[in-house]
Amino acid sequence: MRQAVALHHASRLVNHGPTVLVTTRHAGRRNIMAAAWSMPVEFTPPRIAVVVDKKTFTSDLLKASDCFALSLPVPALADLTYRVGSESGRDLADGRDKFARHGIATFDGPVLQLPWVDGCCAWLELRRIAEPHSETAYDTVFGEVVSAQADDRVFAQGRWSFRDDNAALHTLHHLGGGSFAVPSRVVQGRLLEAGAS
Ligand SMILES: Cc1cc2nc3c(=O)[nH]c(=O)nc-3n(C[C@H](O)[C@H](O)[C@H](O)COP(=O)(O)O)c2cc1C
Repeated sequence: MRQAVALHHASRLVNHGPTVLVTTRHAGRRNIMAAAWSMPVEFTPPRIAVVVDKKTFTSDLLKASDCFALSLPVPALADLTYRVGSESGRDLADGRDKFARHGIATFDGPVLQLPWVDGCCAWLELRRIAEPHSETAYDTVFGEVVSAQADDRVFAQGRWSFRDDNAALHTLHHLGGGSFAVPSRVVQGRLLEAGAS
C-alpha cells in the first residue's frame, strides 16, 4: 500500500532509470507526458533532473507553475504511458485534457496538490529549481523533491524489492517505440575481499 518515502531515500526511486509520467498543473490546465530520461543529481536536499523537451506543453506548464510531479507506471500502464508520450496536450482537438480523454484517474500529492496517477508504484512532487543557463542550452529541468510515496509491496525501508510475486508493481524501462523492459531479475553483488581474484 502507499506509504511516505523519507526524502533522503527519494533519489532511490529513480536511481534505476524507470520511465516516469510527468504531470503538471497551472491556471486551470493540467497535463501528463512520459519521460524516459530522468536521474537523481543530489542526495540532500534530494534533487532530480528530467529531460523535458522545450516544445512540449509539459515544459510550458512546468515553467509557469515552477513545479511538477512524477508517477512511476507499472506494466499494466504501458499502453497509457506510450499514448501520453505520443500526443501533446496543448491542442487536443476535443478541448479536453489527456486525463479526461484517456480516463486517467489521479489523486493529489500532499504538498503541491499536483496530480499523481492512480495505479502507479511510486510518486514524487518537485519544486522546479530555475537554472536559466541549462534550461536555455538544454531541455533538462531540475527539481527538488518535496514529497515522495511508494507502494510498500515493492519499495520499503528505502529499497526496491523486485520479485516474481510483485511483478505487477515493477517499473517500466523504455527500449524505444513503446517497448519496455521490466526489472524481472535482480543480481545481488557481494563485496569482494581486497586482492581476491
Ligand atoms: C516512453 C516514452 C518516453 C519518453 N521520454 C521522453 C523524455 O525523456 N523527454 C522528453 O522530452 N520527451 C519524452 N517523450 C516524449 C514526450 O512524452 C512527448 O513529446 C509528449 O507528447 C509531450 O506531451 P505534451 O506536449 O502534452 O507535454 C517520451 C515518450 C515516450 C512514449
